[in-house]
Amino acid sequence: MKKGTTIYLYELAWILPSIAIPVGMLAALTVTAFGAGIHLPSVAGRVDPRKLAETKPFDVPRVEQVGPDRYIVYLTGQIWTFTPNEIRVPAGSTVTFMATSRDVVHGLMIHGANINTMLLPGQIALVTTRFDRPGEFPMLCHEYCGIAHHAMWGKVIVEPRS
Ligand code: CUA
Repeated sequence: MKKGTTIYLYELAWILPSIAIPVGMLAALTVTAFGAGIHLPSVAGRVDPRKLAETKPFDVPRVEQVGPDRYIVYLTGQIWTFTPNEIRVPAGSTVTFMATSRDVVHGLMIHGANINTMLLPGQIALVTTRFDRPGEFPMLCHEYCGIAHHAMWGKVIVEPRS
């Protein structure tokens, strides 16, 4: 093989993967976004964080049953707790969290469940997941929010069906 041809082949060996890798990543992104429906937590609206006490539904943070096996949690994060801090649902429930912050930026992550969103003051986060397995799922703040950030956690208790 001539020397010029070898260099050409080396170049090709670098160029082809540098095209194939981004194309593969774009394909994976398209499949997960449109096929598997994986997306960023949606912004469900805006609220005035200073007026949460008078603003429905956050005036009464709670767990509400909205259908068979369907629940909605109206949740607020504030330094350094979640309200409600303990959520009980039966196994097999689909739970939507409508959540916001009363003060600074917090996070809402439920370990072992597909919930991971930021709680921004003024913005309503809306995330849904299904709890099939009974057990306790820690609900953590994963955005640094001050001196007692590490103590900001609650739990979701998924009760076995009798
Ligand atoms: Cu709230 Cu960290």
